[in-house]
Amino acid sequence: MTRRKGIILAGGTGSRLWPITQGVSKQLMPVYDKPMIYYPLSVLMLAGIREIAVITTPEDQAQFQRLLGDGRQWGLALEWIVQARPEGLAQAYLLADSFLNGASSAMVLGDNIFFGHGLPEIMATADSRTGGTVFGYRVRDPERYGVVAFSAAGEVREIVEKPAQPPSNYAVTGLYFLDSSAPERARAVQPSERGELEIADLLESYRRDGALHVELMGRGYAWLDTGTHASLLDAGNFVRTLQDRQGTQVGCPEEIAFRNRWITPDDLNQRARIYDKTGYGAYLRGLLDEARA
Ligand code: G1P
Repeated sequence: MTRRKGIILAGGTGSRLWPITQGVSKQLMPVYDKPMIYYPLSVLMLAGIREIAVITTPEDQAQFQRLLGDGRQWGLALEWIVQARPEGLAQAYLLADSFLNGASSAMVLGDNIFFGHGLPEIMATADSRTGGTVFGYRVRDPERYGVVAFSAAGEVREIVEKPAQPPSNYAVTGLYFLDSSAPERARAVQPSERGELEIADLLESYRRDGALHVELMGRGYAWLDTGTHASLLDAGNFVRTLQDRQGTQVGCPEEIAFRNRWITPDDLNQRARIYDKTGYGAYLRGLLDEARA
């Protein structure tokens, strides 16, 4: 069991998905059969993390709370933090400073969806490292992301945010394992031209100290985009295709909690009852039957 604490950053205006996100937070949008935030939440749970702060806008917090509650139903302890304005990803570490209380962290962006068989293992390795670990993923359009620049020797030379001329095809995904110095380092980050505390600058602080590890996620992983209307639909179709084919759920917090023994069969049964009318409920019931068999 890790001592690392989790952060889900689910703020922002979602303006690239307007008008659908004008009334509802982006991270509450459906990705096929679940709210988007279930997927990053599941990733932190797969990393063995049970203490998680959810950062939202002031307006959206109540809706997230209605959905997730205090986390007890999944054996989690959720805390709630408000980000008044979208002033950058690195700001999350300032806002979460007292929640972290000197602990190291894993932060995941509320709109990032990961899928891959080895995910728990690569996160366990990241958890055991000192300094910071981020995950690089090959994409066709790196200019939309933070991008890793490698030296000829394959070492990380720089992390650049949304470069017009990307130095590689490797985007930095929205999953950051950082040690306890993150809030202190974030305090030294200056706002960028667009007025945000950039995560790329915080990662640069680690890199300059020789404390940043970039782990490449190979082609056996899916890191899905939800940043445009089309990619959001694609992500939903991806989840549907996998789930229909395999009969297993992607991003099911009850399943992870149950397999981790954070909740009992009785707890799971109660959850299944809530979702009686849906395939989700039938799936939870199936987990119980499988465990009893
Ligand atoms: C943010 C980060 C970027 C990262 C991306 C991952 O970009 O700034 O470095 O690659 O998340 O989703 P945003 O989605 O806020 O534009």
